[in-house]
Amino acid sequence: MVVKILTLFPQMFTGMLNESIIKRAIEDKKIDIDCIQIRDYASNKHKKVDDYPYGGGAGMVMTPQPLFDAHEHALSSLNNTKTEDKNKNDQIGECKKNSIRTIYMTPKGKVFNQDLATELSKESSLIFICGHYEGVDQRVIDTLVTDEISIGDYVLTGGEIPAMVVIDATARLIPGVVSNEESIVDESHSNNLLEYPQYTRPQEFRGMGVPGILLSGHHKNIEEWRKNKSLEITKNRRPDLV
Ligand code: ADE
Repeated sequence: MVVKILTLFPQMFTGMLNESIIKRAIEDKKIDIDCIQIRDYASNKHKKVDDYPYGGGAGMVMTPQPLFDAHEHALSSLNNTKTEDKNKNDQIGECKKNSIRTIYMTPKGKVFNQDLATELSKESSLIFICGHYEGVDQRVIDTLVTDEISIGDYVLTGGEIPAMVVIDATARLIPGVVSNEESIVDESHSNNLLEYPQYTRPQEFRGMGVPGILLSGHHKNIEEWRKNKSLEITKNRRPDLV
């Protein structure tokens, strides 16, 4: 999967890209993640990327020009063709035709969940737009964006952390990214249930033991215990999932 991230703060992604499972997935060429600095595409002298909202009101709105140009660059690098030579309407049409999903991270979007992560993990490429200030000009959304996604009912300072959440949850579902595929099958949300409790050594720690059934070696009973625990935890914490 190839991921292009349009952002004003590419450095926010350095931690994510250089640690742990995502770092290994990049090294193993399972995923390629490229940050595109929106400001580099601003055509005005001062590289300004925001302006006052028409109609008044608080805050600033990200202007369309740098976003359209940065998106065009992302598309042409994904299509690996000389799209610079074509006119802009062709490129927008091509985006829709090729159905390269362009995701705008916004608290107004559809709330992200495991099903959506699974759906996105099947795409060969994704483009993310990270907004700041009071958001982006609506014409960007109307023309370029295929999906508006929120990571929850709260407001963050920008779309970078939400994009990282979506990319992380999606990337780990790409075959081969998480080495033990079993851990994806059993985990929370994989079948609309929260995961059962896990224990490891030592068998006794500060006076606390481990449920005897897990030490019994009786696989069928262990499976049943885990299923019951999953159901119990889900009913208690997330009755909406049951
Ligand atoms: N940008 C700001 N808050 C957000 C949220 N909750 N989800 C996605 N993008 C956001």
